[in-house]
Amino acid sequence: MKVFVTGGAGFIGSHLAERLLARGDHVLVLDDLSTGSMDNLAGCIGQPGFDYRVGSATDVPLVSELVDRCDVTVHLAAAVGVRLIVEKPVHTIETNVRATEVVLGAAAKKGKLVVIASTSEVYGKGVRIPFQEGDDLTLGPTTHSRWAYACSKALDEWLALAYYREKQVPVIVTRFFNTVGPRQTGRYGMVLPNFAAQALRGDPITVYGDGSQSRCFGHVADAVESVLRLIDAEDAVGEVFNVGSDREVTILELAQMVRESAGSQSEIQLIPYAEAYAAGFEDMQRRVPDASKLERVVGYRPRTPLEEIIADVVADQRTRLTAGAPR
Ligand SMILES: NC(=O)c1ccc[n+]([C@@H]2O[C@H](COP(=O)([O-])OP(=O)(O)OC[C@H]3O[C@@H](n4cnc5c(N)ncnc54)[C@H](O)[C@@H]3O)[C@@H](O)[C@H]2O)c1
Repeated sequence: MKVFVTGGAGFIGSHLAERLLARGDHVLVLDDLSTGSMDNLAGCIGQPGFDYRVGSATDVPLVSELVDRCDVTVHLAAAVGVRLIVEKPVHTIETNVRATEVVLGAAAKKGKLVVIASTSEVYGKGVRIPFQEGDDLTLGPTTHSRWAYACSKALDEWLALAYYREKQVPVIVTRFFNTVGPRQTGRYGMVLPNFAAQALRGDPITVYGDGSQSRCFGHVADAVESVLRLIDAEDAVGEVFNVGSDREVTILELAQMVRESAGSQSEIQLIPYAEAYAAGFEDMQRRVPDASKLERVVGYRPRTPLEEIIADVVADQRTRLTAGAPR
């Protein structure tokens, strides 16, 4: 199989590319290197069956050509990360909506299978835990940039499902919950690599709010496995899937676990949201996936233990610190 991965030089994309190559598939990556990096593809470049282009997923002729050359497209390219979204809302909305439109338009020409990456953010302020794919989406007001990411991804989902219904394009939507692991950078506000880097440097571990908000962290290898199985599952077409672990942890507990795993003496410092982001920033108290639909359709759900995930991220950050690489 030949797989086109947009955003393939990013965190999830580079793991997906490596895994595909390892099982003998061909991989074609497109990335504009805005948050991704060629370093992430070090294990792929030069491997048989691997090719890449540096360019934008909003470039219609380029995307059409690359979609045409492959059997399946996994569309991961997006403006990602809470900090980026708050700081660059125009870029976020335009990238996330346009690129998906371009990818779906190209796939429609020949009815090619497309996996569209969405996010648990679309559940917004939903309080019915765990989140199920059919739940209502409860987003905040347009006056808060924070919601632009969720809204742009929700629109991507609508568009993907519209292409499926109206133009019979085979699509699969994956709502990734917090996905973590080696190579994720802390530069764009990702919590776990940031905690690990702070703990290893002996700096204060900065927890936003009072730390009682909880999240579920899934290993990137589990997310990749889920995507690969969904591509092979006929029943997955035209459907939306939560992809994440349901092991819940408060952010304060996470900071403590990271500190322990890193063997660090760092203090844990609580930072009010208003200081961390713009005033009025809203965060969700809990976000837990119901992954039973994924398990029913592909016989698998993300289950790597949190302790193992943290150890992997700490080891990765240790290597980066030693090498002087960006966090
Ligand atoms: N990591 C998570 O926890 C998580 C959670 C929910 C959803 N997601 C989604 O998964 C996907 C991958 O996220 P990630 O965590 O690997 O982030 P990432 O930032 O590492 O990957 C995104 C990649 O897309 C590239 N990109 C951005 N705009 C582009 C454009 N216009 N053209 C081409 N490439 C472009 C970036 O350079 C980067 O390599 C995204 O769609 C994201 O919204 C991730």
